Amino acid sequence: MKILLTGSSGQLGHALQKELQDFAEVIAPTRAQFDLADTDQIAPYVQALQPDLIINPAAYTAVDLAEKESELAHRVNAIAAQILAEQARLLGIPLVHFSTDYVFDGSKVDADGKLLAYREDDDTAPLNVYGASKLAGERAIANSGCKHLILRTSWVYSGVGKNFLLTILRLAKEKPELKIVNDQWGTPTSTLFLSHACRSILEQMTQASDQQAWWKAHQGIYHLTPEGVTTWCDFSRAIVQQAQQLGLLDQVPAIHGIPSAEYPTPAQRPRNSSLDKSKVKAHFHLALPDWDQSLNEVLATFNVCH
Ligand SMILES: NC(=O)c1ccc[n+]([C@@H]2O[C@H](COP(=O)([O-])OP(=O)(O)OC[C@H]3O[C@@H](n4cnc5c(N)ncnc54)[C@H](OP(=O)(O)O)[C@@H]3O)[C@@H](O)[C@H]2O)c1
Repeated sequence: MKILLTGSSGQLGHALQKELQDFAEVIAPTRAQFDLADTDQIAPYVQALQPDLIINPAAYTAVDLAEKESELAHRVNAIAAQILAEQARLLGIPLVHFSTDYVFDGSKVDADGKLLAYREDDDTAPLNVYGASKLAGERAIANSGCKHLILRTSWVYSGVGKNFLLTILRLAKEKPELKIVNDQWGTPTSTLFLSHACRSILEQMTQASDQQAWWKAHQGIYHLTPEGVTTWCDFSRAIVQQAQQLGLLDQVPAIHGIPSAEYPTPAQRPRNSSLDKSKVKAHFHLALPDWDQSLNEVLATFNVCH
C-alpha cells in the first residue's frame, strides 16, 4: 500500500511517518515538494503519485496568527482539504484527516453548570479563525463523497516540534515560578498515542474483507484523545513532577494558576475542550490511556540531554 502523508515535519506527521514505516510505503513530501497553500499543484501531484490512501495531518496551526492570516489558514485547512478529498474520491481511495476541539465554543454544560464532553454530533461554533477554517475543511471532506475518517483531537504535544510540553520543560529550567491558565479544560494528547491509535484503525481497515461494508459502517467524524480532563495549569504541574521523577529536571518551579483574562491572546480559546470518546471506542475497540499515563510514556522516551 502506498500512503501519501502530508505534514511530516510537524508533530503528528513526524510520529505517523515513524509509526507507519513498516506498515506501508509512506511518501512524505516536504512543504517545498507539496505546498498545500499552492492549491493548483495538489491535484496534479496526487494524480502523478496514485496513492492508495491519503493521510493529512498538515494544517495551518498558528492559532493566534490565523486571526491576521485568515485567507491562508482557510486555503490550507479548508480548500486544500477539499481538493485532497476530491482527489481521493476520483481515485476511489480513503482520506484520513485530523481536526480539532476548536470547532466547538466550549460552552457545553449540564443543568448544574458542570462541563460536559462534546459528542461528534454536537453543534459546532468555532470561536476563532483557525477553528472556523478547520470546520470548513471537515465539511468539505464530509460533502466530497470520498471515503473518509476525520479524527478530532485536542492539546497535541510530542517530543519534537513546538508544543506546550517542550515549552514548559524549557521554562522550568529557566524560571523559579510559572503562571499558567487554569480556566480552560481539555485533554492533552500525545502524538505517540495518536499515531498508535491511527495505526490500529488502519490495520482494522486493511484487514476488513469487505472494504465497502467497512467504510459504510465506519466513515465519519471521531473524537480521539486519551481519557481524563485537566487544565493547562495542572497539565504543566504533571509535566514538571513527572520530569523530575524521571531525572529530566533537577528542580521544579512553583506553578500558579491564573485566569485566561490575565493571559490575553489574539484568538479566543474554548473554556471546555473535553471530547466524548464513546464513538471511537465502540467502533475501533481502542483502549485509551489516561492523559497523565500517556504523558509519562512520552517523557520516558526522553533522554537527559533533551
Ligand atoms: N497542535 C494542537 O494542539 C492540535 C490540537 C487539535 C488538533 N490539531 C490538528 O492536528 C493536526 C496535526 O497538528 P500538529 O500539532 O502536528 O501541527 P504542526 O506541528 O504545526 O505541523 C503542521 C504541519 O503542517 C505543515 N504545513 C503547514 N502549512 C503547510 C502548507 N502550506 N503546505 C504543506 N504543509 C504545510 C507543516 O509544515 P512546515 O514544517 O513546513 O511548517 C507541518 O509539517 C492538524 O490537523 C491540527 O489542526 C492540532
